[in-house]
Amino acid sequence: MATNGSTRPGRRTAIVAGLRTPFLKAGTEFRDLSAVELGAQVVNELLVRSGLDPKLVDAVIFGQVVPSQLVTLIGREVVLRSQLPKSVQAWTVSRACASSIQAATDAADQIALGQADTIVAGGAESLSDAPIFASRKLAQTLVAASRAKGVAGKLQAFASLKLRDVAPVPPALTEPTTGLTMGQSAEQMAQQNGIAREAQDAFSCQSHRRAADAWASGKLAEEVMHVAVPPRYARVAARDNVVRDDATVEALAKLPPVFDRKYGTITAGNSSPLTDGAAAVILMSEEKAKALGLKPLAFLRSYAYAALDPAEQLLQGPAFAAPVALDRAGLRLGDMDLVDMHEAFAAQVLSNLQWFGSKAFAARIGRKEPLGEVDPARLNVNGGSIAIGHPFAATGARMLLQTAREMGRRKAAHALITVCAAGAMGAAVVLDGPET
Ligand SMILES: CC(C)(COP(=O)(O)OP(=O)(O)OC[C@H]1O[C@@H](n2cnc3c(N)ncnc32)[C@H](O)[C@@H]1OP(=O)(O)O)[C@@H](O)C(=O)NCCC(=O)NCCS
Repeated sequence: MATNGSTRPGRRTAIVAGLRTPFLKAGTEFRDLSAVELGAQVVNELLVRSGLDPKLVDAVIFGQVVPSQLVTLIGREVVLRSQLPKSVQAWTVSRACASSIQAATDAADQIALGQADTIVAGGAESLSDAPIFASRKLAQTLVAASRAKGVAGKLQAFASLKLRDVAPVPPALTEPTTGLTMGQSAEQMAQQNGIAREAQDAFSCQSHRRAADAWASGKLAEEVMHVAVPPRYARVAARDNVVRDDATVEALAKLPPVFDRKYGTITAGNSSPLTDGAAAVILMSEEKAKALGLKPLAFLRSYAYAALDPAEQLLQGPAFAAPVALDRAGLRLGDMDLVDMHEAFAAQVLSNLQWFGSKAFAARIGRKEPLGEVDPARLNVNGGSIAIGHPFAATGARMLLQTAREMGRRKAAHALITVCAAGAMGAAVVLDGPET
């Protein structure tokens, strides 16, 4: 065990810097940029702003959830498109919406083990650039045609194709084993846990208000780079474009439900939107940071991943992961100065918080007491994914950065971050403040 309260074996890992692009609604100003371009831009700018010699970077770990068909290894491609030396090795991770949490915890493990001193971890997503697939029948026909001899043979291969076989197939946001979309699953959770529409809209309104305040006070501007917008590069994206300064519960209450149009409660306003963006953090061993005179933003104290049956409640993973991460940290929910919970949907956040406080759930996972209630004044204090946006693989790094910086402002000792993910998985990370 390390000293200074850390309960993780091995060397202590600091987050020394981080940065993100603005998060923009898919199909808007980042529509001509790919995930890898967004990722390379954020890593390049992060290195410049951190003042770190790129030669000191041992590895890059990057996440991408909706894969690009042309660039499959985003981690390595980010290295090759940035100012990092070509000798920097890299790998790509995918744990759905927790992908850049996975990148960061992989980095922390490498650092703890002494395999690396400095790692750039992050994620990027372009939902504007989602791959469009050919149907299975069309793909098989194209392969058959390429193998056929002579023009007649090639034409023959296409003979059995029907018009419907040539229709492009968009990527699905459905859970493969249940066939339900994230939104439909969240709708079921709202119904099973009795999460009212009013509570969802109030939570979403607060997310917008807090994010708008964080922008107005200059907090977010310091962690968000400017990106010149192609194709003419005459304009610059400098701010998240989903955040509404004028959000009201009255306006939210007017929106129609989208995933169950008749009886549902989930709307465009209380869901995270489809978003483009990238985010990255630099993780470093405590002693390396000291040697370089860098002041850590926070330390990664513990983490945990967990999963349940997707057919039960798809987005309740955090309720299972958080107790394990807190146990590993040797801390309780009440010790957390800040809690940052990814907002896939307001119904999902409220469902997870309900289970945090539930005696029945505590008994189910073999605990004497529930984790407890989260003080709303400590929860998602600068807004979350509903207002800021949710470029899947970038969200975890955005949360690590946003929380670590807020810990510094509040001189916070501990913070808990949770992310729900497809496959009914959950991630939880406990951070220590820079003075802890
Ligand atoms: C919910 C979803 C289908 C909505 O998509 P959309 O229809 O493109 O959403 P829009 O942004 O166009 O919003 C629809 C309307 O609601 C309005 N609206 C959205 N948020 C609002 C708010 N906070 N206040 C007031 N109005 C709002 C918009 O202005 C728009 O109005 P208009 O139709 O008059 O232009 C889409 O965001 C989605 O699929 N989200 C879930 C993504 C997901 O599954 N993520 C995985 C989670 S891990």
